[in-house]
Amino acid sequence: MTELIALITGANKGIGLETARQLGARGMTVLLGARDSARGGAAAEGLRAEGIDACFVELDVTDAASAQKAADWVEAEHGRLDVLVNNAGVATSGGPPSGTSLDGMRAVFETNVLGVVAVTNALLPLLRRAPAARIVNVSSEVGSVTLSGDRSFPLWHMPATLPYPASKAALNMITVMYAKELAGTPIKVNAANPGYCATDLNAGSGFRAAAEGASVSVRLACLPDDGPTGTFWGYRWGADDADPYGDLPW
Ligand SMILES: NC(=O)c1ccc[n+]([C@@H]2O[C@H](COP(=O)([O-])OP(=O)(O)OC[C@H]3O[C@@H](n4cnc5c(N)ncnc54)[C@H](OP(=O)(O)O)[C@@H]3O)[C@@H](O)[C@H]2O)c1
Repeated sequence: MTELIALITGANKGIGLETARQLGARGMTVLLGARDSARGGAAAEGLRAEGIDACFVELDVTDAASAQKAADWVEAEHGRLDVLVNNAGVATSGGPPSGTSLDGMRAVFETNVLGVVAVTNALLPLLRRAPAARIVNVSSEVGSVTLSGDRSFPLWHMPATLPYPASKAALNMITVMYAKELAGTPIKVNAANPGYCATDLNAGSGFRAAAEGASVSVRLACLPDDGPTGTFWGYRWGADDADPYGDLPW
């Protein structure tokens, strides 16, 4: 079988790096997207030392020209792309909705929402060339409108804030709309919920490991041909059954 090519954005650390490590361990060639060449280069070198076929690709998701340059490079080197994991993300607390700074909100949307559209559209021609491409959008349960409004769900006890939850809710809709456009193709588009993982995003406060969060993206990146598209899948906080993974409500 031809070796699969996967690009992961924001792959120099955290869940993105672990996703690259796990996809690489499955034999994929992993392209580590990162906005900083020193951090991205070091991450790729670390994976190569573990025997993984890893390569750094400069990619700032907030810069459409950077996304196109990365796509041009992938085309020149590989001619197609099998897996795109839109993982890069930022979070700011933002304070309560009534005190939200529009500049702060724009900054989060630039990365978590517009960045995903820019990167996906730049790479879609290459994903269409793959026999069965997979797109994974790394979302969050805080982007679930249903769970956020549920007084019996643990999220209810977290402070109300706009930028990050609203960006992930927008990302969920973006996932459904790409899945709809691509429904007649072999490409599957799904949103991932890694669960609350200890990374720099939350100053290490998460109760799951980054590798556990990455396993959700990996599962969606490796879906079989009869797997789902247009779903929101991953860790279900507070699930009382033995398997904490499953579909989440939008
Ligand atoms: N940790 C959690 O509990 C949790 C829960 C649910 C969802 N998520 C989601 O999981 C994803 C990964 O987060 P994480 O927890 O692994 O956080 P992290 O450790 O802070 O990693 C975030 C990554 O995104 C990169 N990034 C940020 N802005 C970028 C840009 N403009 N262009 C390219 N890369 C950029 C960062 O690069 P730099 O090093 O250059 O900043 C870093 O590599 C995010 O989408 C996050 O929303 C995380």
